[in-house]
Amino acid sequence: MEHNRILLNADQMPRAWYNIAADIKEHLVPPLDPRTNKPMDAAGLKPLFAEALIEQEVSTDRWISIPQEILEQYSIWRPTMLVRARQLEQYLQTPARIYYKNEGVSPPGSHKANTALPQAYYNKIEGIRRLTTETGAGQWGSALAFACQKFGMELMVYMVRCSFEAKPFRRTLIRLWGGNVVASPSDLTQSGKAIRARYPDTSGSLGIAISEAVEDAIHREDSHYTLGSVLNHVMLHQTVIGLELKEQLKNINEKPDVLIACTGGGSNFAGMVFPFVPDKLGGAKMRFVAVEPASCPTLTRGQFAYDYGDTAKFTPLLKMYTLGHDFVPPAIHAGGLRYHGQSPLLSALKKMGVVEAIGVQQQAIFEAAKIFINTEGSVPAPESAHAIRAAIDEALEAKKTGEPKVIVFTLSGHGYFDMSSYELFLDNQLQDYEYPQEAIDRSMKNLPKIGYPG
Ligand SMILES: Cc1ncc(COP(=O)(O)O)c(C=O)c1O
Repeated sequence: MEHNRILLNADQMPRAWYNIAADIKEHLVPPLDPRTNKPMDAAGLKPLFAEALIEQEVSTDRWISIPQEILEQYSIWRPTMLVRARQLEQYLQTPARIYYKNEGVSPPGSHKANTALPQAYYNKIEGIRRLTTETGAGQWGSALAFACQKFGMELMVYMVRCSFEAKPFRRTLIRLWGGNVVASPSDLTQSGKAIRARYPDTSGSLGIAISEAVEDAIHREDSHYTLGSVLNHVMLHQTVIGLELKEQLKNINEKPDVLIACTGGGSNFAGMVFPFVPDKLGGAKMRFVAVEPASCPTLTRGQFAYDYGDTAKFTPLLKMYTLGHDFVPPAIHAGGLRYHGQSPLLSALKKMGVVEAIGVQQQAIFEAAKIFINTEGSVPAPESAHAIRAAIDEALEAKKTGEPKVIVFTLSGHGYFDMSSYELFLDNQLQDYEYPQEAIDRSMKNLPKIGYPG
């Protein structure tokens, strides 16, 4: 019998993160100060982030060592398994070989733990006592709660209101690890109060929750803010996924034809794909497919422009694909993909034509999740089911052409806290939602007018 689980030897484990900025420097532009619209230097970020993280944010060194303390924590669940999805292949009757990298096996249940640990660690060693953050589906908030518990830090999580209500057990998990969690918008911050006064029934958004978490951290000496996606240092930490994957594929003599991941702010996609980008830039034939919800179509229908990361315009301006900082997406069940912006590094790769993007509807992703559950067995997060949908569609395409292509996707998290969404799917109560062009155009009108560069 052939094995489906592809492991790694201890000497193949990554000891440094891969920094893609070293290889695409000429395509990158700096963040801008939201007060002056001029390039922001590292000092401008100090009230918010640990110095080591700021250094990583602007670094163009290709490799950055992973501290021993982090390697020790990673070893609780890393390396993650690469699995050949043979039963899925058989069900689809495809000549394609399908593999998935299972990041759902971390203690909090997703890839977010890969960056939560170093973010808590660097803050801790610089004397910070308390962290603040936002969370969509609760995956990032719970991952950071896990990391804060490991390093003895306090945590305040602003959780997007619709997820706060739909995912009560993620709240429990945050609290079990000792974190505090409130629904956003809340009454604890000026920005939260302002939004509630204007839109009393709002379901919230990541943009609003980020404003609250930033405002909270900026007013306290003992606190820093952390972000679970979008920023360069987050993409950097996630590259352990792709670095392990490369070695695992080498161990079985496979070369991937297509790598697929879902994208909210881009971090699980970046983590898997970035270590393969130098191969593609060097001529290797490989496709990278980013999958997003059709209801929050940042890469597929957004503009490549400087924009704020949050609704209240506190964050630096980043050059990225965006739907506009005041865009509030519908309350879909993949809460972690409801973000108006996208990683500047991933955005640059999309602009360069290295990465392609597609949008998929909610009903179709839950149907794909159901096929996965009935073949491979485990329950994926609705976010990860976007990648499964695209992998299934690639495999069905291969069936038409007879091409035995190698498809690899990231299973970014498990869905055992998403049962209420699955319940609605089983009861035929999920709705598809195509974001109307007028609404996108309206929010694009509020993009900041930036003259930089030139
Ligand atoms: C399981 C899971 N996958 C994917 C995402 C999207 O984030 P990113 O694009 O940064 O990977 C999230 C965000 O919360 C998530 O919880």
